[in-house]
Amino acid sequence: MDRMRLLSMQLPPNSNINSSTGNTKGKISFIKRLALGFIILAGLGLLYVPAYHSAQGQFSGFGDISLPVGTLGGTDLIASIVQLRGWSYNTSRDVSIYIHPENTTVILTPKRICNNTSYLIILICSAVGNINARIAIRNTWGNQSYLDTLYGSSIKVTFLLGQSDNDTLNSYAADENNLYNDIIQERFYDTYNNLTLKSVMLLKWVISNCDKVRYIMKTDDDMFVNIPTLIKTLRERPKSTGTLIGSLICNAKPITDPKNKWYTPKYMYSDRTYPSYLSGTGYVMSSDVALRLYKAALSIPVLHLEDVYITGLCAKEAGLKPVNHHGFSYIPRNLDICSLRETITAHKVNASNMYTVWNKLKNFSTNCKNYIKTAKNTPVSRISRNIGYFLLKGRIHNNRCI
Ligand SMILES: *[C@@H]1O[C@H](CO)[C@@H](O)[C@H](O)[C@H]1NC(C)=O
Ligand SMILES: *[C@@H]1O[C@H](CO)[C@@H](O)[C@H](O)[C@H]1NC(C)=O
Ligand SMILES: *[C@@H]1O[C@H](CO)[C@@H](O)[C@H](O)[C@H]1NC(C)=O
Ligand SMILES: *[C@@H]1O[C@H](CO)[C@@H](O)[C@H](O)[C@H]1NC(C)=O
Ligand SMILES: *[C@@H]1O[C@H](CO)[C@@H](O)[C@H](O)[C@H]1NC(C)=O
Ligand SMILES: *[C@@H]1O[C@H](CO)[C@@H](O)[C@H](O)[C@H]1NC(C)=O
Ligand SMILES: *[C@@H]1O[C@H](CO)[C@@H](O)[C@H](O)[C@H]1NC(C)=O
Ligand SMILES: *[C@@H]1O[C@H](CO)[C@@H](O)[C@H](O)[C@H]1NC(C)=O
Ligand SMILES: *[C@@H]1O[C@H](CO)[C@@H](O)[C@H](O)[C@H]1NC(C)=O
Repeated sequence: MDRMRLLSMQLPPNSNINSSTGNTKGKISFIKRLALGFIILAGLGLLYVPAYHSAQGQFSGFGDISLPVGTLGGTDLIASIVQLRGWSYNTSRDVSIYIHPENTTVILTPKRICNNTSYLIILICSAVGNINARIAIRNTWGNQSYLDTLYGSSIKVTFLLGQSDNDTLNSYAADENNLYNDIIQERFYDTYNNLTLKSVMLLKWVISNCDKVRYIMKTDDDMFVNIPTLIKTLRERPKSTGTLIGSLICNAKPITDPKNKWYTPKYMYSDRTYPSYLSGTGYVMSSDVALRLYKAALSIPVLHLEDVYITGLCAKEAGLKPVNHHGFSYIPRNLDICSLRETITAHKVNASNMYTVWNKLKNFSTNCKNYIKTAKNTPVSRISRNIGYFLLKGRIHNNRCI
């Protein structure tokens, strides 16, 4: 299919072929051109094969292959485009159609979660069925009564869900909220390619329910968040307004291989690189920033990559610059005690090793004074290729992209 696409794009338009068949000279030049075209194609093929095989994503992000008819040089040619499941190029990408900014869309919401003394609210994006991940977080770093004893109820941990097509699971979520008062469920269909809608819903909920909160954190349910280190970091900031921090990704390029999990068709994003953005595994913003991002989102067409969309495209539109902080990482970390203490986020921590990490962190008997960072335990590795949506990573200086 993809070879098909390459071939059809390289063929000369029919009109050229017709005009060059009038005389012998024309014929020769046509053959020459055909040969040249063939050589170029072979070259492209050579380049294309290794790129194809190096793709490490799974087969989960793309939709069915269809063959719409494209027009090139006045003649119809078949150009196959692999469309994204849920976001075919006919689907409207106007955010307000899905978000309903005028109306309330909450199905479940915790009661009295924020007021004017709230410092930080952490919203953990979770799928309706991920009950075990939520339990593990409640029993470890997100233990609300533990946080209340430490911070006098100024820090809240909540889970953000969409709707499942399984109503048994939806009713479990309602029971869970009755029990723990920490579930936000919004009215949209919860799928991988709808994560952007989830993040816009997050902003909408925060603005309508927690407008007085100082900071908002977005993270996922496979993340470990070291709240004391995060609070320390936030308290050291000279001012809260204008905050947008996390793990910065520079010069990322859209992945155009349809087999990749993070495939982005040209019709979804046509520029060569994404604007600098923060990894969606964990980022923190101030409430003024949440409002500005939300307003921007209502005018920017959906890109299915939640973090590129919110912290890249919407931030740029709103005149905000995402800033890197070394405590955030989207790369699975070496979870030794001393690097954990400096860590704010650790990725790919499942329900079972959540407890391991938590118990390590609670052990204060290890002295990290003489701790030496080595390549093995350095929290953030910047030498990465093809992790996430990008193939190439730009450099960071003074916590910004250069
Ligand atoms: C796009 O929508 C039109 C009209 O709704 C339909 O006829 C056409 O088949 C659709 N094309 C694709 C590629 O889905
Ligand atoms: C918002 O809710 C009102 C009242 O329920 C309804 O009349 C209106 O159509 C809704 N607007 C949107 C955009 O859904
Ligand atoms: C704010 O909410 C917390 C509980 O979430 C409560 O303990 C505190 O008294 C409230 N403060 C005000 C000023 O309402
Ligand atoms: C915070 O809210 C409480 C009750 O909701 C109110 O009495 C108090 O004046 C508020 N404080 C500030 C600083 O707005
Ligand atoms: C949560 O924290 C409270 C208060 O510190 C503690 O009593 C409780 O055992 C903790 N829960 C778990 C599951 O660790
Ligand atoms: C819905 O979820 C429940 C609980 O996980 C499961 O037992 C049931 O088979 C699911 N139903 C469907 C239609 O998938
Ligand atoms: C995203 O959510 C909207 C609103 O619930 C729904 O219409 C659409 O089918 C969903 N898209 C995907 C890709 O799941
Ligand atoms: C959790 O991750 C560890 C590796 O980090 C793995 O050994 C373990 O099998 C995983 N557990 C579950 C329940 O997936
Ligand atoms: C705490 O760490 C020390 C040294 O790393 C270790 O000897 C001790 O067994 C740990 N304690 C617990 C309760 O895990």
